[in-house]
Amino acid sequence: MPFLSSTTLIASSSLVIFLGIGLSILPSYFSNLILTWRSTTYCYASITTLSPTTTPNADCITISPSGLFSKVFVDEASYDVFKAWRTGHVIPGLWDGHGHLLQYGELLHSVNLFGAQSMGEVLERVHEYRKGNERVGSREEWIRGVGWDQAMFGGNMPMAQDLENDPQLRGAYIMLDRIDVHCVWVSEAVLRLLPDPLPEVPGGEIVTDPGKGVFCDNAMDLVMEHYPKPGKEKKKQFVRSAMKDLNSLGIVGIHDAGVTPEDLNMFEEMIGEGWTVRVYGMLECKKRNTFCPNEALKITREDKMLEVRSVKLFADGALGSWGSAMIEPYSDHSWTSGSLLVNASMLTDLTHAWASAGYQVNIHAIGDLANRLAIDAISSALDLLCPGSPRQECQRLHRFRIEHAQIIHPDDQKWMYDTGIIPSIQPTHATSDMSYAETRLGTKRTSEEAYRMRSLLPLNPILGSDFPVEPADPFQGIFAAVARRSPQTGLDAHGGRDGWYMDEALTLEEALRGFTIGPAYGAFLEGKAGIIEVGAFADWIVLDEPLETMDVDGLRALRVREVWIAGKMVFERVDEEL
Ligand SMILES: *[C@@H]1O[C@H](CO)[C@@H](O)[C@H](O)[C@H]1NC(C)=O
Ligand SMILES: [Zn+2]
Repeated sequence: MPFLSSTTLIASSSLVIFLGIGLSILPSYFSNLILTWRSTTYCYASITTLSPTTTPNADCITISPSGLFSKVFVDEASYDVFKAWRTGHVIPGLWDGHGHLLQYGELLHSVNLFGAQSMGEVLERVHEYRKGNERVGSREEWIRGVGWDQAMFGGNMPMAQDLENDPQLRGAYIMLDRIDVHCVWVSEAVLRLLPDPLPEVPGGEIVTDPGKGVFCDNAMDLVMEHYPKPGKEKKKQFVRSAMKDLNSLGIVGIHDAGVTPEDLNMFEEMIGEGWTVRVYGMLECKKRNTFCPNEALKITREDKMLEVRSVKLFADGALGSWGSAMIEPYSDHSWTSGSLLVNASMLTDLTHAWASAGYQVNIHAIGDLANRLAIDAISSALDLLCPGSPRQECQRLHRFRIEHAQIIHPDDQKWMYDTGIIPSIQPTHATSDMSYAETRLGTKRTSEEAYRMRSLLPLNPILGSDFPVEPADPFQGIFAAVARRSPQTGLDAHGGRDGWYMDEALTLEEALRGFTIGPAYGAFLEGKAGIIEVGAFADWIVLDEPLETMDVDGLRALRVREVWIAGKMVFERVDEEL
């Protein structure tokens, strides 16, 4: 039976007070003894450690005062005073290998358009949101939303006029992100702020059919220039909301895939004020795809609550808007093969510059041309960094990554294995895109190149969600990786339950490693994160049932019981009393 006696809690809190006085005046051997006493042991029904060295069927963990696992063991007669039995099954705390923290917080504070079925429903959700936020819609505070898709509007792009036609929204400042956040749809009031006529934007698209209002990729900058950016206090609120939500999903750490130096400084300030997620931040210069050594920064902390030593570059756009750069034209848009956001020589120069400055370089690449150029840029950076030594060896030191690694030519997949480049993959992108991917790419490219997971397994992929582009729930990501079906509907691209291109599916354990061991290695945290063993951060989560024996569809609605970071509980599920 689980019990955590209240005397235990009282005992440990009075020790904390005692400790504060004690440390400064007591001889060190005595204070060390107190520190040992402050270690806490918890025992659970089972513990999956993912550690090759620790017993896989442990059931107790001891946490040191500094927030590390100091003991992982099978319960037997033990001298620990503070041992407490708790209910549930433990796995290591989960990491999302690619997400966007601030944007996720902003989403939590904006109109959620995901899953809306029509223009009417989109407008209704905006009205509903505005009820609780009367002030929004002014020039100083625009209405923000995210999650629309032209498929909701019968395949037609929306336009500013659609918002203007709504009497409740007429004149309001509105900016709504497409589901993939690669396009924004704005209102007439916002359009009036922009230059007339609108300039051509390289690497961007200004939609004019059926009317003005949507701006994609680089053209979004035209709008963003006028967007009243949220102030620091607002941003801090976004971060806190995001962290709270992520914790509740079982997430203890994330790789933040693109943060400006200014926001990284704000992050650093926030540690200690409700900062409950480990963040491995990728630096993004104020001006995307540049080398900005003067504003660049690195952050290293012993507690690894925030770490910055990597940089994010962008090779291309998204598949949904035909923005990914392809070697051959799209099958359903034969006049285009997408577009690069930088040319090959620029990408190589940037990779060299950042790598030489000591940064891990993480390149966003979706299309097969973008991936080819990314692999090429990374390979040549490796040659530059470690002249004369094998690329794989050099790569183990530098750990360059390709973010998304979504469509890769078979020759380049082989090149990736030979180089050891780490793919950072979002399994739910595969299931979100599966309904149109084959139309865009044709059967051959889809079956040989797209949404590889099993094929890339030898490279120990990092898995993630790309939140807020996809839901942040890592169990949905695990489900998508294992079943290759939509976590929302439970169905594959054909409305069945067979799974989409199951050759590329992962096993449950492989998927779990992708949300633990993979991101740990990709953040230089192997042995410290994503694992339960002595010396690792005491981060763990608790499930009602052991993951291994769970019905795979059970993952879709799984809710975690508890989440612990550095030995402290940051989330506990509250069940309704029966
Ligand atoms: C690549 O882009 C850069 C910057 O836009 C430009 O200066 C350079 O001439 C381009 N190189 C080629 C080969 O097109
Ligand atoms: Zn992203």
